Amino acid sequence: MERKIAVIRGDGIGPEIVDGALKVIDAISEKYGHKFIYEDVLMGGASINVYGKPLTDEFLSKAASCDAILLGAIGGDASVSPWYKLESFLRPEAGLLKLRKSLNLFANLRPSYLYDELKDACPLKEEIVEDGFDMVIMRELTGGLYFGERETVLKNGEYVAHDNLVYSESEIRRIAIRAFDIARKRNKKVTSVDKANVIDTSRLWRKVIEEVSKEYPDVKLEHMLVDNCAMQLIKNPKQFDVILTENMFGDILSDEASMITGSIGMLSSASLRDDSFGMYEPSHGSAPDIAGKDIANPIATILSAAMMLRYSFDMIAEANSIENAVKKVLEDGYRTVDIMSEGKKEVSCSKMSELIADRI
Ligand code: IPM
Ligand code: MG
Repeated sequence: MERKIAVIRGDGIGPEIVDGALKVIDAISEKYGHKFIYEDVLMGGASINVYGKPLTDEFLSKAASCDAILLGAIGGDASVSPWYKLESFLRPEAGLLKLRKSLNLFANLRPSYLYDELKDACPLKEEIVEDGFDMVIMRELTGGLYFGERETVLKNGEYVAHDNLVYSESEIRRIAIRAFDIARKRNKKVTSVDKANVIDTSRLWRKVIEEVSKEYPDVKLEHMLVDNCAMQLIKNPKQFDVILTENMFGDILSDEASMITGSIGMLSSASLRDDSFGMYEPSHGSAPDIAGKDIANPIATILSAAMMLRYSFDMIAEANSIENAVKKVLEDGYRTVDIMSEGKKEVSCSKMSELIADRI
């Protein structure tokens, strides 16, 4: 099979972790006889440095013409980077939001599970995680506060700002369908998270989710308020299967869900729409403090590449092969510094990628 991948290395540790993932994809291509064509796309700070904006229309079209996007990470240290002196629509993050919105990538899947091998790195008490947990957050990605009209105005001698939180029934319905479809293939439970005791968008959210759930009698639906969900993730993460939520709540809860796995360096993500196109990136950021040192953990990006093979290219055996190689490398005792524990072998980013590629 031949597939074209838009490769966005991005900023900070982005280039290192993407190169690691490409090593692993190359190993897949060799083993299974596929041809992957890589198209470089500039986005984020790397693009600002050259073009003065985070994503040019040319690169947007180039990315759109590929079969999928593999992204490292974007952004820098806001306290020192010149990128953050720019207007907000010219900063690195604006490139990411433009990609999500223009390509209609409305369904963001963020899995969070505890590897047996990494239980030591989990910050929760042993009695809470002795049986592990395995959930996926389905975050709506192209609506809500991120894309509502916003403004800061001077009123009676002081600045007043507003951000609009808007959701339509159709936006809610399409993400709900994705979440129920995925729950059906997993443990058949959807926890829909909202703030229906206070805000209208959440009350509409609840109504549409109820309607969609009628089409899935085999999937259990429960509603949970977002503040309670934040607490339950720490108290009893095992109760969750699919967490379905809107853009801003999903942003916050997915960081929390990743932290309890031991390291945010392990978690992949996929941003999908109704056809097979998707964007795949680690859940973590660009970690400018460790950029260029070859110590970042490439596993989240490598697992994102596995999701790309599974969801965009329908290469199931190939995706499993990457996931098994990651498991094997952990079983064999190799660790990057973020997940290092006593008695294990510490390796660099490039070495970790090589070890995983060797196990394909
Ligand atoms: C994420 C990130 C982004 C978001 C930022 C970089 C704009 O935090 O993907 O979770 O808020 O969506
Ligand atoms: Mg986030």
